[in-house]
Amino acid sequence: MQVRKAVIPAAGMGTRFLPATKSMPKEMLPIVDKPVLQFVLEEAAESGIEDVLIVTGRGKQAIENHFDYNPDLEYFLRNSGKAELAERVRDIGETVRIHYIRQKEQLGLGDAIRLARQHVGQEPFAVLLGDTIIDPPPGQKPGLRQLLDLFEQIRASIVAVHRVPREWVARYGIVEGDPDPFDPNLLRLRRLVEKPSPPEAPSDLAIAGRYVFTPEIFDALDCTPRGVGGEIQLTDAMNQLAVDEPVFALAWQARRFDIGNRLEYAKCFVEFALRRSDTGPELRAHIARLLAGGPEPLL
Ligand code: G1P
Repeated sequence: MQVRKAVIPAAGMGTRFLPATKSMPKEMLPIVDKPVLQFVLEEAAESGIEDVLIVTGRGKQAIENHFDYNPDLEYFLRNSGKAELAERVRDIGETVRIHYIRQKEQLGLGDAIRLARQHVGQEPFAVLLGDTIIDPPPGQKPGLRQLLDLFEQIRASIVAVHRVPREWVARYGIVEGDPDPFDPNLLRLRRLVEKPSPPEAPSDLAIAGRYVFTPEIFDALDCTPRGVGGEIQLTDAMNQLAVDEPVFALAWQARRFDIGNRLEYAKCFVEFALRRSDTGPELRAHIARLLAGGPEPLL
């Protein structure tokens, strides 16, 4: 049972990033020169996904344009002696088949996934949140691949989770479960709560934006009423699914950057820029000077 399809919800309004997101989808925010959503798509492709459905909404046309050819731009680049850049621009999104569907109303993440039912059919499928970058430690497999490896063994829905400080639990879906006797990082889930207050949170394990589902999640979504924020919550549907069949959580080591959060976006940008050979050395020296309170060299 190989997972071939993935759904990437990218329909949220991005209000925490206004005014930047007034005319630009938050998923297109760049980390140096690559949009967040391109990182997500590359993770899916590197994990063996062949087919992706991106759930967009009004004002998100930049996403489709980004993964399409742009002959004028390529022509201009080739004529300016930048053939290599022209190739790179053309190759974006070539590794997977991409489809789009629009969510007409902001009814939440659960509703966005529900829209994928017809496209996905009766197969297991992955979900990658379009505003989350997963950064596994060097040498480890891409985040989604780690979940898919596990899915191929246990054949049950799985969600990646990570530990968060107690004061952050209200930002996430929080899970509660029983550890597997052979692998303490694997939990069989008993209960999931979307955005609980710290006293209500059953643990400090937060849903990290990567999931693999059996198609039964669609039936669970169909009977999920509106939850927190008046939205149809994927977490609530998973709660129902966990009653009907086993659902697991994997507490993984990968770092996760929640790009919907301004501070995490800034951290991700700086960290990735520091790692790159074209920007890293000077940026490191610059930050060191700033932190030492030293004078800015005049250029
Ligand atoms: C969504 C999910 C939540 C999950 C989070 C991860 O919330 O509903 O369970 O923990 O993504 O980023 P959102 O960030 O859309 O509010």
